Amino acid sequence: MEELFEQLAFSINPLDESVIDDILQNGHSVIDGFLEENLVLSLRTDLLKKYEDDCFKKAAIGNRTNETIKTGIRGDFILWIYEHTTDYSHRLFLDRINDLVVYLNKTCFLGILRTEFHYAVYPEGKFYKRHLDAFENDDRRKLSVVCNLNEDDWLPEHGGELVLYLKGTAGEVPKTVYPFPGRAAVFESRVLEHEVKAAIRQRLSITGWLKTR
Ligand code: OGA
Ligand code: MN
Repeated sequence: MEELFEQLAFSINPLDESVIDDILQNGHSVIDGFLEENLVLSLRTDLLKKYEDDCFKKAAIGNRTNETIKTGIRGDFILWIYEHTTDYSHRLFLDRINDLVVYLNKTCFLGILRTEFHYAVYPEGKFYKRHLDAFENDDRRKLSVVCNLNEDDWLPEHGGELVLYLKGTAGEVPKTVYPFPGRAAVFESRVLEHEVKAAIRQRLSITGWLKTR
């Protein structure tokens, strides 16, 4: 029995344990190395190829039933990742997300049943103004997951930071998350307002949501 428990414990990614602890305690988590270097590299290579091949579209705000493009609010371009993709790097990415989901469902009873993810390119100078990820007409998005795919030489002075507007006991506490490659931010979609600041160079990410039915 003890042996079996050890096996189970062994298969859990220790990073995911800290994600869950952070989410339960603070409603958000920032994890360096959430995606390993090789995966970041293959996702970035794939993203850039598809971006050059013109597969991306201008991101809109709202969902399918009330979608509008407002460049004053967000200036990124996106490409949705197909759930049943056979693309190798996409499969590795979705497997990584699935590991987190399995563990989340086991420990937090969140009832995550679906995920949706898209690549995002923010051209130089583009941003996404402060917003909430849950829609008024659809509250299935539980957790938002932002994974950064930038080059290794990304510096804080390049900008592009994700700002999480945390609620402290004494008011709002903005938390700055620089978009270093492999780093992920996970937070409650219905609760945490956030924004993406403009960068002085092209900013790459893969962003998505863990959803209930
Ligand atoms: C979003 C979002 C952050 C990012 O797409 O809703 O907040 O860093 N994205 O891509
Ligand atoms: Mn968002």
